Amino acid sequence: MFLPPPVVPLPQTVPITEAPFVGRQEELAALVAAAAEAAADGARIALVTGEAGLGKSTLLERLGRRLERDGWLVAVGHCSEVDRRRPRGPGLRR
Ligand SMILES: Nc1ncnc2c1ncn2[C@@H]1O[C@H](COP(=O)(O)OP(=O)(O)OP(=O)(O)O)[C@@H](O)[C@H]1O
Ligand SMILES: [Mg+2]
Repeated sequence: MFLPPPVVPLPQTVPITEAPFVGRQEELAALVAAAAEAAADGARIALVTGEAGLGKSTLLERLGRRLERDGWLVAVGHCSEVDRRRPRGPGLRR
């Protein structure tokens, strides 16, 4: 006789609302400080550099969300990699 498999309830799950963000407090603080300086007396340029997968994009996403929370209008631009296509000016999106 064929019996259907037993129905096992899944364990209680908790939705992941945000990826973990470990460390990088110093770098985030430096970028927030640069933004505050720019707001006080002019533009600032911050260069975030590091090996592939080191967390540059994640850091900048955090910064963007932090600044938006503080009332900033955050614009994000991307450029193509120079060796893949002809480089273009950055496209901005809100
Ligand atoms: N501070 C962090 N805490 C936990 N996970 C992180 C942190 N920073 C990055 N990650 C994770 O590491 C992975 C790579 O991060 P990310 O894409 O930000 O790196 P990247 O430096 O922008 O990489 P690439 O050079 O390829 O653009 C992602 O899965 C991301 O979720
Ligand atoms: Mg990246």
